[in-house]
Amino acid sequence: MNDRKFYKMEEIEALGVEEVHNLYKEYINPNQTKIFSSLPFGNEIFNKAEGVYMFTTNGKKILDFTGGLGVLGLGHNHPEILKARLDFQKNKRVEVHKIIFSKYMAALSNNLSYLLPHNLKKSFFLNSGAEAVEAAIKVCFKSYTKKRKFILHSDRSYHGKLIGSGSISGSYFKENQFPVMENCVSYNFNDGSDLESKIIDCNNKGGVYSVIVEPFSASTLESVSNNFMDKLFKLKDKYGFRIIFDEVFTGFYKSEKMFCFQNFENKCPDVLCLSKTLGGGKSSISSLIVDDDIYKKAYNKINETFLHTTTYNGFGEESVTALAALNIISEKNFEKKVINVSKLLKDKLKKIKKTHSDKVEEIKGNGILNGIVFKSYMSELGNLVEKIPISAIKDKSSFLKKITATAISAELYEKHNILTSINDSSFSDHLCVSPSLVVSDENIEFFFKSLDDVLNSNLNLKSLSVILNFLKS
Ligand SMILES: Cc1ncc(COP(=O)(O)O)c(C=O)c1O
Repeated sequence: MNDRKFYKMEEIEALGVEEVHNLYKEYINPNQTKIFSSLPFGNEIFNKAEGVYMFTTNGKKILDFTGGLGVLGLGHNHPEILKARLDFQKNKRVEVHKIIFSKYMAALSNNLSYLLPHNLKKSFFLNSGAEAVEAAIKVCFKSYTKKRKFILHSDRSYHGKLIGSGSISGSYFKENQFPVMENCVSYNFNDGSDLESKIIDCNNKGGVYSVIVEPFSASTLESVSNNFMDKLFKLKDKYGFRIIFDEVFTGFYKSEKMFCFQNFENKCPDVLCLSKTLGGGKSSISSLIVDDDIYKKAYNKINETFLHTTTYNGFGEESVTALAALNIISEKNFEKKVINVSKLLKDKLKKIKKTHSDKVEEIKGNGILNGIVFKSYMSELGNLVEKIPISAIKDKSSFLKKITATAISAELYEKHNILTSINDSSFSDHLCVSPSLVVSDENIEFFFKSLDDVLNSNLNLKSLSVILNFLKS
């Protein structure tokens, strides 16, 4: 684009898809523009959303079955969330001031702690999951006077893309692409013996300050086992490290219980990271809630008061939004509804696997977080992938499954107006079936009827060949 321009609000509202592509290409991310615009939903502009539906400028009503990648637990523009925000605005409440008390942040920290075991008491508020993870690393490290050196993480983990959180994510920061935080050691996912041997090894070299665990991984849709959890807590008793549970994705009823760790008996972490649904789909807020004793060990001295703050923590409207989200989530009927929806999803997933056993390889997941791994049943795709140089794709079989899932996602959109997503983790090759918690039985029926139809018909390969050609280049 040659002509530089400063857009006014009316012009922005009127932007068409081509102009948006051009702006993305020029000012955001050229390759993202290529990839997204090769998919059918990348060629439309969405200008309204409500509940589980999104509306395009060309008049389509789309069923959003993505759950907003964890953010839209309560759907788009939940009326109670909107009301809380509008009231806040109408009354011109104080949004930000770092040197006065905020009643909203005070109440939010109280309410979070109220929903959790007693020891989890002190909250920090931040703006993204990765920031919560980084704050968790800091508080655990700082809580030892005689410093310990190591943090352990699973080899199949995902904790974010900042330097610290990326360093403890099994799926990122490979091959020296970025600097890494020192003394991060990975153990084999869900393998208590490997964890123990890594802890013993690290203990001889300076000690372990923390083990970070996703009780359920939203990227791989795998849960750690009861045995692993038992072992983790026994090892903690023996070696005295801090346990961080990363529930950035799984928090707030994604796995039937309000918090995923409640699926394991008496397994309370020292630090819990939360985000996504906490923001009610409207605010980018994250939190870590820290065991009171550990907080005191880390930050109790007066000269440590501001060792972990950020400019944007605990903004008024963000906090009010999170308070409204917690209100909805802790209503009496909410749990019952989520359990029913989770059960219905499970039944339908089982059924689709049985009906299409030639095309469905595996059903994964739990609660509202599920996925379908498809067999790469389209020989045309196999032929195309074979032409891509080996170095570009490490695991062709998994890549083919991912591409097959992408093809099915494209068809669901084109034929049935359903938006679905594929996780970008190198460990996942499934179609995500993880709608918002507010999805109805009818929405679920419609999704599976549509998926059944797609699996009964031939796939349209046009859009996928664009991605494959891009990868080849
Ligand atoms: C378990 C987990 N931790 C951390 C993060 C990072 O959160 P954010 O993308 O807000 O930085 C994510 C994001 O998906 C996540 O799923």
